Amino acid sequence: MSVQERIRCPILQDKVMTAEVAAAMIKDGMLVGTSGFTPSGYPKAIPLALARQVKESGEQIKISLMTGASVGIELDDALTEVGVIGHRSPYQTSKALRKALNMPGGVEFFDEHLSRHAQNVRYGFYGQMDIAIVEACAITEEGHIVPTTSVGASPSFVQAAKKVLVELNMTKPLALEGMHDIYIPEKPPNCLPIPLKRVTDRIGTPFIPCGPEKIAGIVICNIPDEVRSLNVPDDTTQEIAGHIIDFFKREVQAGRLPKGLLPLQSGVGSVANAVLSNLAHSEFENLKFFSEVIQDAAFDLLDSGKFIVASGTSLTLSAEYLKKLYENIDFYRQRIILRPQEISNNPETARRLGVIAMNTAIEVDIYGNVNSTHIMGTRLMNGIGGSGDFARSAYLSIFMTTSTAKGGNISSIVPMCSHVDHPEHDVYVVVTEQGLADLRNTSPRERALHIINQCAHPNYRPLLLDYYQRSLKAAKTWACHTPHILQEAFSWHERFNQTGTMLP
Ligand code: COA
Repeated sequence: MSVQERIRCPILQDKVMTAEVAAAMIKDGMLVGTSGFTPSGYPKAIPLALARQVKESGEQIKISLMTGASVGIELDDALTEVGVIGHRSPYQTSKALRKALNMPGGVEFFDEHLSRHAQNVRYGFYGQMDIAIVEACAITEEGHIVPTTSVGASPSFVQAAKKVLVELNMTKPLALEGMHDIYIPEKPPNCLPIPLKRVTDRIGTPFIPCGPEKIAGIVICNIPDEVRSLNVPDDTTQEIAGHIIDFFKREVQAGRLPKGLLPLQSGVGSVANAVLSNLAHSEFENLKFFSEVIQDAAFDLLDSGKFIVASGTSLTLSAEYLKKLYENIDFYRQRIILRPQEISNNPETARRLGVIAMNTAIEVDIYGNVNSTHIMGTRLMNGIGGSGDFARSAYLSIFMTTSTAKGGNISSIVPMCSHVDHPEHDVYVVVTEQGLADLRNTSPRERALHIINQCAHPNYRPLLLDYYQRSLKAAKTWACHTPHILQEAFSWHERFNQTGTMLP
């Protein structure tokens, strides 16, 4: 398929330009929003050209960069290396950027719930967006943008930006067209209920509304997405998955879940992928996936018919599964819906559909608070992502982690989280390879015993029990609801998290 056939709006054919010319439109102090979500569907040619220009000219350019979520090395790493990113939000997974944002005087990073990010840009909370750069597989006759393998925040960025640069990615098949469902809510007080009643519903357009006037340039890109392989499920992740599936069975038996469960949401990473993989061997049928990221395992479940639909905002696939997608795209287009992150992660929709949320924790404390973002309370790992969008609103909110980190040197169950992303009120179930703690309708004292006894690693269990029992004894008679020995609770991290090494 030629470039001309992908740019179906005749007056836009003259706007094709080199990445260098497009990159030169990005000036110091600008607020720039790009497509891209967990690195899928992000622009590559323009940021690489910008990085080259800055390197060669020595010009000092600092921009505020917003994306849907994490993006690939051609964007975050390339711009971090030349010091172009002054301010960044709302989520990242780049090693170079992680280092830069954790350094004194480094990149300022604003960690935000992903469903809120797009709407807050439209509300003008962060000022006027100067340029939106969006990866596309086509531009329609009317000048609207057909996104590629993710939607993310692009619809809101396109609406909010003064001008739009399009990267037409020739490595992405045009057959992706029809997979997207773009719905942008109005601003309050005119915002209506989102008309999504079932996971299978399509409620918007197959393109991002834009129009030819707003498009300032089109760059042809031949660079594929950076793809990442997921760890093959190991014994530990299999055990976590096994506990969750047994829990689902008990919930079905008790009549609290239907046989086909409720729409499943699953976080990013290898643990999340392993849990989905295990569903393939479970008794559950006709499952629906209503999540943020659609990873490899979801494809296996679509292939086997266990999943009848997968709704998300991004396809984050390994090279093998990307190939599979492209080779069977007609099959998947009927079963996959890519929505803006404001819709895929919308707390109102998640609450109404009764989503079962399964997200990953860095650490969990004995009272059920969850840290998903900060190592030792100070060093940002990635960001909260969509975990908070789902956890607060879910029918069942499950957090999973391995019971130890760093080869067993660190307990993931701690007396007090060094940073809290998900308070005890949003955490119904905690699960590690050791077991599962059902925290519904439990007091903090009941919770502590459940979490320590079911989830902590046996090497750390006596230490945690000892801490809890001494906290109970030390607590004033009027302060036993959530007993703590504060000084000791904090020093736990210093005692048992000795690696202190800089994360890559
Ligand atoms: N102390 C120190 N380091 C820890 C730790 C702890 N308690 N727990 C985990 N880590 C380290 C791991 O050792 C690993 O480090 P490495 O990269 O040097 O190997 C790193 O943190 C990631 O942990 P890992 O076990 O590989 O888990 P993961 O890839 O499944 O990621 C999160 C876990 C929490 C970082 C990730 O899921 C995340 O960013 N979550 C927040 C966003 C989110 O939930 N999005 C989905 C919503 S839809």
